[in-house]
Amino acid sequence: MSKEKVQIFDTTLRDGEQVPGCKLNTQQKLVIAERLDLLGVDIIEAGFPASSPGDFNSVVEISKIVKNATVCALTRANKKDIEAAAQALQYAVKPRIHTGIGTSELHIKHKFNSTPEQIVERAKDAVAYAKSFVDDVEFYAEDAGRTDNKFLAHICEEVIKSGATVLNIPDTTGYCLPDEYGAKIKYLKDNVKGIENVTLSCHCHNDLGLATANSIAGIQNGARQIECTINGIGERAGNTALEEVVMILKQHPYLNLDTNVNTKLLYSTSQLVQEKMGLNVQPNKAVIGENAFAHSSGIHQDGVIKNRETYEIMNPEDVGVSKSAIVLTARSGRAALAFRAKEVGYELTKDQLDIVYPEFLSFADIKKEVIDEDIHEIMESCRLLIA
Ligand code: KIV
Ligand code: ZN
Repeated sequence: MSKEKVQIFDTTLRDGEQVPGCKLNTQQKLVIAERLDLLGVDIIEAGFPASSPGDFNSVVEISKIVKNATVCALTRANKKDIEAAAQALQYAVKPRIHTGIGTSELHIKHKFNSTPEQIVERAKDAVAYAKSFVDDVEFYAEDAGRTDNKFLAHICEEVIKSGATVLNIPDTTGYCLPDEYGAKIKYLKDNVKGIENVTLSCHCHNDLGLATANSIAGIQNGARQIECTINGIGERAGNTALEEVVMILKQHPYLNLDTNVNTKLLYSTSQLVQEKMGLNVQPNKAVIGENAFAHSSGIHQDGVIKNRETYEIMNPEDVGVSKSAIVLTARSGRAALAFRAKEVGYELTKDQLDIVYPEFLSFADIKKEVIDEDIHEIMESCRLLIA
């Protein structure tokens, strides 16, 4: 049975680029957009055209080069923003306007000094206006995570009537717990008339480290689009990490869900974004971090050398990493030393290993990590003893 697809909406170039100090120029954005298209994301959010002439121009140029993905542009719920987005998207093969407004009590009162009724009217008008330019209109209910579910259902129902094709339910502040966010999606599925004709989208921020868990909870409750960024970059603590949600769906086949992403390009895409943005991910970052497939303790190394699956739930090759790494440290065991020594040309017998291992440990106690050159040095110092 073929698996149901979850749409991957990449917002590295819009929400991701909101990281302070990581602004990209048009040329850099084009390189990333081309790579995202190759990676197989379904939607590329290219920017917020009304925000600056530079962003407008980037959306125009990205629209010209993207061949497969839908190209999306963000707007606020006003005519000027929507016109700018429509104009910037004029060359896109598959254009989408992403418009919306804050729906939580806090946003309605303090951001807009408005009322729920007025917000619904603005949302309907914005969607209808965007619809006069493009068929594909996504509505976002900003701060949906803290919006009363009944009001959220009401505004969703109204914007569907105005022509929305996708409903984005952002946990803008990263506050929700996974069961709460999942229940919100289920509530909308169960209570919004016309919901079966639109796609529900998860857009989760990572303020409490729950963005990925919340997105998956949303998907398990009926959402079919995830908004995410490469390396999880974005405002504050960032957005849902694309590589994480894609691999979760791949590694859990019983969910019966899949994406169009070519996972073998995940690592190189992550490297490209790190390089262009000048922002390195932490070594222990899930899926694409330098340590994601590195094993340094003796017990784990022994297991992995015998059978990789003892301590790995993904094949590194599936994300574009050539192999697991056996890192030699003072916590490494004899099996790891023999394995790495063999890789650099020394096939040690058990007796030889008995001689070399204590020497290795003395070395490793001084150095944090024992690299290939160090192995040669250790072998040289033991030469007379193991000859
Ligand atoms: O986090 C958020 O609510 C957003 C919207 C503008 C989609 O990024
Ligand atoms: Zn966001």
